[in-house]
Amino acid sequence: MTIEEGRRLRRLRRTQGLRRAFAETSLSPSDLMAPLFLKEGISEPAPISSMPGHHQHTLESLVKEARELAARDVAGVVLFGIPATKDAAGSEAHNDGGIAQKGLKALKEELGDDFVVVADLCLCEYTDHGHCGVIENETVANDPTIEIYGRIAVSQARAGADMVAPSGMMDGQVAAIRSALDAEGFHDVAVLAYAAKYASSFYGPFREAAEGAPRFGDRRAYQQDPSNVLEALREVEADIAEGADAVMVKPALAYLDVVAAVKDRFEYPVAAYNVSGEYSMLMAAAANGWIDERQATLETLTSIRRAGADLVITYHSKKAAEWLS
Ligand code: PBG
Repeated sequence: MTIEEGRRLRRLRRTQGLRRAFAETSLSPSDLMAPLFLKEGISEPAPISSMPGHHQHTLESLVKEARELAARDVAGVVLFGIPATKDAAGSEAHNDGGIAQKGLKALKEELGDDFVVVADLCLCEYTDHGHCGVIENETVANDPTIEIYGRIAVSQARAGADMVAPSGMMDGQVAAIRSALDAEGFHDVAVLAYAAKYASSFYGPFREAAEGAPRFGDRRAYQQDPSNVLEALREVEADIAEGADAVMVKPALAYLDVVAAVKDRFEYPVAAYNVSGEYSMLMAAAANGWIDERQATLETLTSIRRAGADLVITYHSKKAAEWLS
């Protein structure tokens, strides 16, 4: 078609008013959730050097940060606990008096039901070897691990978690957690399944933040290979069948096609995790003056929403929410 025939696509881009009126994708603070780290045995929040603006929190600073997020209308937080002691089976993870449980209780008591509190459910921060489950014959043993995940879920539910988010990529983890929760009467605690989680180099800064790097080997025998998308759909299908209330794709940016495929295929609530390395890359470039932090952040978060994510879990939550209000 020629310009003479009247087709001028630039008309709807002429003013900010027109652009806003015809935007296909929305981004608001309530689409965002912030990961937060709570460390046992520290008296001051400890900055995480690879993630500017983020800290390993004390109980007090955790609640303060969550209040600031809630005041900016962010949907909620995903809590990671870092225990003072670790062992081979990660037993602190299901200690009712453990650090994550203390954090969950404090957050629910202080912030109430308008703010969603999600408990990350994994063992890597709790095991002395840093793997996401118990080791047998030099590998992570699936079935004993999911039995422990069930116990963690119940303990996190007792502490008040609205949702538990299993991130270990064990087979059958959602079913094991759902039945453990139901057996204890926690029918209303939801499962946000890290359904398609890839073995990614973009978790580097997180492993400093959460002190959960594997002491030997890597996670490629349980997390997904970056080349696969059909496998991601099988993972999502399995988790939905096992009772997941929402599914997650992680990381987000290098996997936007996976987010889109999952949304298309299942029409189910989808979250995408804009992970630590994605945050650190953007922040490093911004600190060098190579990109504009505000524009790059909002463009990034919009792209994840455009791909089909209902919810974006992101370290940019606080600043983005400020910019969006
Ligand atoms: C642990 C877990 C990881 C992340 C969330 N939960 C790291 C890993 O699997 O090694 C990564 C989050 C991030 O990089 O922001 N199961």
